[in-house]
Amino acid sequence: MKFGYFDDQHKEYVITTPKTPLPWINYLGNREFFSLISNTCGGYTFYRDARLLRLTRYRYNDVPCDTNGKYFYIKDGDCIWNPGWQPTKTDLDFYECCHGLGYSRFTGKKKNLQASVLFFVPLEDNCELQWLHLKNDGDAPKTFSLFSYVEWCLWNADDDMKNFQRNLSIGEVEIEDSVIYHKTEYRERRDHFAFYGVNAPIDGFDTSRDAFLGAYRGNDHPQVVEKGACSNSVASGWSPIACHQIDLTLAPGQEKSLIFVLGYAENPLAEKWSAPDIINKKPAKEILAKYQTDAQVEQALSALAAYWEDLLSKYHVTSSNEKVDRMVNIWNQYQCMVTFNMSRSASYYESGIGRGMGFRDSCQDLLGFVHLIPERARERILDIAATQFIDGSAYHQYQPLTKKGNSDIGSGFNDDPLWLIAGTDAYIRETGDFSILDEAVPFDNDVSLAAPLMEHLHRSFDYIVNHKGPHGLPLIGRADWNDCLNLNCFSAHPGESFQTFGPSEGPVAESVFIAAMFVKYGNAYAKLCRLTGNTSEATRAEKEVAKIYDVILKDGWDGKWFLRAYDAHGQKVGSHECEEGQIYIETQGFCPLAGVGVKEGLAKEALDSVKERLDTKYGIVLLQPAYTRYHLELGEITSYPPGYKENAGIFCHNNPWVSISETVIGRGDRAFEIYQKTCPAYVEEFSEIHRTEPYVYSQMIAGRDAAFFGEAKNSWLTGTAAWTFVNISQHILGLLPTHEGLSVDPCIPHDFGDFELTRKFREGTYHIQVRNPKQVEKGVVSLRVDGQEIAGNVIPYVRGKKEYQVEVTLG
Ligand code: BGC
Ligand code: NOJ
Repeated sequence: MKFGYFDDQHKEYVITTPKTPLPWINYLGNREFFSLISNTCGGYTFYRDARLLRLTRYRYNDVPCDTNGKYFYIKDGDCIWNPGWQPTKTDLDFYECCHGLGYSRFTGKKKNLQASVLFFVPLEDNCELQWLHLKNDGDAPKTFSLFSYVEWCLWNADDDMKNFQRNLSIGEVEIEDSVIYHKTEYRERRDHFAFYGVNAPIDGFDTSRDAFLGAYRGNDHPQVVEKGACSNSVASGWSPIACHQIDLTLAPGQEKSLIFVLGYAENPLAEKWSAPDIINKKPAKEILAKYQTDAQVEQALSALAAYWEDLLSKYHVTSSNEKVDRMVNIWNQYQCMVTFNMSRSASYYESGIGRGMGFRDSCQDLLGFVHLIPERARERILDIAATQFIDGSAYHQYQPLTKKGNSDIGSGFNDDPLWLIAGTDAYIRETGDFSILDEAVPFDNDVSLAAPLMEHLHRSFDYIVNHKGPHGLPLIGRADWNDCLNLNCFSAHPGESFQTFGPSEGPVAESVFIAAMFVKYGNAYAKLCRLTGNTSEATRAEKEVAKIYDVILKDGWDGKWFLRAYDAHGQKVGSHECEEGQIYIETQGFCPLAGVGVKEGLAKEALDSVKERLDTKYGIVLLQPAYTRYHLELGEITSYPPGYKENAGIFCHNNPWVSISETVIGRGDRAFEIYQKTCPAYVEEFSEIHRTEPYVYSQMIAGRDAAFFGEAKNSWLTGTAAWTFVNISQHILGLLPTHEGLSVDPCIPHDFGDFELTRKFREGTYHIQVRNPKQVEKGVVSLRVDGQEIAGNVIPYVRGKKEYQVEVTLG
């Protein structure tokens, strides 16, 4: 069952009922100013950091869910309604929400009045535009009142929901003309304020939530709207809000548009100290002046559309599979941008006050983003590297505003260092920009400890070399990619949280997964050394990689699949000898992907075992059999009920690893089958089971051991976006950026048909036609570039060359 449809021409998902199984959201904003917006206008806005600079208030865990947002109320006689249905939930004669690239448009109709509101963040300014169109569709004049509504957050979202003894006394606002200024905290050391204005005279306002709602009422029936008249309240403390009232009369067929601007402004600190309590409204007024007319807003909207058109032109496929084209050309790349911007900070499942930018998460997000805006990827790599410690380990997370490592979480996840190599390597393969390796980057944000980025990669590499256990496999530390595999938890005390007890790293617990990563990214590091002329370091690195490779084959192979780990007692994890959790997905996915066991035939065996033991109709589960009881020696993973999250859920993130591995051994049918199972465009068909947004990936789908098999959770912010894009674009469709040039080596289902790709890579645009007359799954028999036959798979990169015509024949 569906709750809407894809409109590929407009690059939108059109939701046709407000009653989706869960709120279906979109993200507005591109760089610094962001909003989350649901299909019923729920959500919130922040500047740069969802924890520290939150403009509007949202209540997670609220009932009914998703009832705070940015709302327009229409009072038409006795009828009060919202174009996005919430919060009044008045039945509408028509409802539609179109989530597009960086904008969302809501259309509601009631009693012959049509209200359509478009929300977006313009490219250039720190504000959200709300462009409202009202139309009288009836044949009699209509007189009604419009009320806007936002509830301010007192900036620090964490404090905002905890520190009431202070919060309830600090709220301050100011009203001037049609603009409401929110200046809480300005009088102390803060230099910022928010504003909410409209390009029309107003008939009233409210800034006190209590005055607006009335005692013991919710925003589903505010007293002021019921009365039809604002009370012109000026908030002092308690909960400041912003509401404008505009009274309108429309003749039959008449239309009216209004532009609301919700923005953020700063006064330079030096200026602020000369008049500490008085905000200088100039920067806000400058923004407001830019969005006074429809033409101005239209122009900003076209600029946003052009921006996305340009970004998406970097990778484009035309095939006979409409779902693949839709995901590759629109939604997968869009989600990659969102995960790049947000990391794991703010979604409807990440509160914006918990995890900020994850070290491993952001490094992986780069893999799906780097082709879009390489300059931003470059900045991000340097920011992340600056949170690395001098011994090569790293803060696991950092706050986007301060860019400082989070010392509450600290370090100790032993896979983290290698992801920095992964991200940097992807950037250099994409751009050919080796100069990044010479950039001086601090350790632990201490500039006195700065060293070239290459030295950071060196330390990442050596961290693994210097932290090995009894088998010569990498020590796992607190956990590796699987945050919940806490093998050093043997000294737990009841009531303590999973990752704080016990030593973070014992001398024994080892990870086969990190070993596989070391092969992949250790080789990438060695290659970077070679390409930058450091031959001795390259040779040393290759030797270290070879050592670990051999250990994986010797002590990391379980007979039919790769082992997952050794615990702190030296016992196997993910072995047929275990009582539960006999086979894990991560090593089956990552070993072949890293080239481990391919020539020995183990890769195929491991992948066959995945199909036999882990596959389900909704995707591949993380492990089997699910843990049915808590195992102290394994940690948080066994704390989840069977079938959820890391305990045998379908963790979408590592499904593409398996799919990529299938392409490594040439099985295109199977690689695509795996791709398809979790792919939103396919999953859309059973949205009532899947429940999260059908246009983006979710982190997890409940596995077959769970009560609600097939139900997804944690949509949007997941490494699945980047890894799936890597899978479909680089491995299935087969265009992989290498240091030498673009490699072409598709691995597709035999009946996929011919297809065309356009890829902008460095200075060139590659027009690629792939023909598959013999219906093979893999194997390039002919590669012609500008009419010339080329040996091998790589189109040699020619500096400055602008156009490449490429013909590929499989056979
Ligand atoms: C989740 C993991 C997550 C971790 C982060 C765990 O509860 O299961 O998916 O990575 O928390 O702290
Ligand atoms: C989600 C986390 O963000 C990610 O870092 C981790 O690898 C997975 N969970 C698996 O535990």
